[in-house]
Amino acid sequence: MSELSVNHLLGIKYLNEEDIQLIFETADQFKEVINRPIKKVPSLRDITIANLFFENSTRTKLSFELAEKRLSADIINFSASQSSVKKGETLIDTVNNILSMKVDMVVMRHPNPGAGVFLSKNVDASIINAGDGAHEHPTQALLDSYSIREKLGDVAGKNVVIVGDILHSRVALSNIFALKLQGANVKVCGPKTLLPTYIESLGVKVETDLRKALEWCDVANMLRVQNERMDISYFPSTREYAQQYGVTKTLLDSLDKEIVIMHPGPINRGVEITSDVADSKQSIILNQVENGVAVRMAVIYLLASKIKQ
Ligand code: CP
Repeated sequence: MSELSVNHLLGIKYLNEEDIQLIFETADQFKEVINRPIKKVPSLRDITIANLFFENSTRTKLSFELAEKRLSADIINFSASQSSVKKGETLIDTVNNILSMKVDMVVMRHPNPGAGVFLSKNVDASIINAGDGAHEHPTQALLDSYSIREKLGDVAGKNVVIVGDILHSRVALSNIFALKLQGANVKVCGPKTLLPTYIESLGVKVETDLRKALEWCDVANMLRVQNERMDISYFPSTREYAQQYGVTKTLLDSLDKEIVIMHPGPINRGVEITSDVADSKQSIILNQVENGVAVRMAVIYLLASKIKQ
C-alpha cells in the first residue's frame, strides 16, 4: 500500500493496520532525514499548513511546526488566546477566514471532542486532529507505538499498561485503538473513579493494583491526572494518588524484569512518576518526543500526497 485510506487524520479509529504500517515506514525514512546534517527535504514546497491551537500545547505544537518546516511547507500559526475568537467568532468563521488565504491543511487542537470531524465536514482542507478534548490524540498514539516498535522491535504481542487518568485522556483512547489494531495486549490501571465503565468493551482489561499491572507488562505508559478536565474530586488527595498509582524507582527495581516507561508529557514529577524514574534509562520519554517529529512528518507528507492528486 502506498497511500493512506483516509483524507484526514481525525482519530486512530478511522485508520486500519496498513495505514499505521505505512505511516511507520514513511517515518523511518524521515527519521533518517532529520538525523542528517541538512535536516530538510523540499517535498511540501507547494503546501501551506495552518496550525490552529485553541488549547495550550508545548510538545505537539512545536513538533508539528518543526515537522512542517523540515518538509519545506509554508506555515501560519494561530493561537486562540490571541485571536478574534475572544470577540465571539465561531470556529467555522475563523477557519474559513484562514482557508481563504489558500491553506491546504489544518492542524487543530481544540477542547471540544469531535471538533476535527466537524471541521472536516465543513471546510475544504485536509484536517489533522492534534487533540480534541478527552476524545483522541492520534499523532501522540502513533508516536507512542512507533517508539515501542523502535525499542522492542514490534508492537504485536507486547503487554502494554496505560496507567492513570483514563477517564479524561485522549491519549489513552487513541493508544488503546492503535495498540489493539497492531495486536498488543492492553490493560488500563488506575483508581476505579478514573476508569470509564465502558472501557472493557474496547478489548482492554482493567487492573486496579499498580504492582500487578507492572509485573504483567512490557511497557507502562504513565498518564498525567488531567485536573483541568475535572470539576469534582476523583480521589482523596494527590499524595494518596501518588502513593497508590505513582511509579517510583524502588517499585521498578523490585520487579523481576526491566520494563519500558513512557509518558506523553507534560509530566507532574512526584505524582505519576518520580524524577528518578522519568530520567532513568528505562524511560523513553525523550525518544517519544524525538520520534514525534518523524511521525508527524510522515502523516503530513502522506496526507499532502492525497491533496496533490
Ligand atoms: N503530549 C502532548 O500532547 O503534550 P502537549 O499538550 O504539550 O502538546
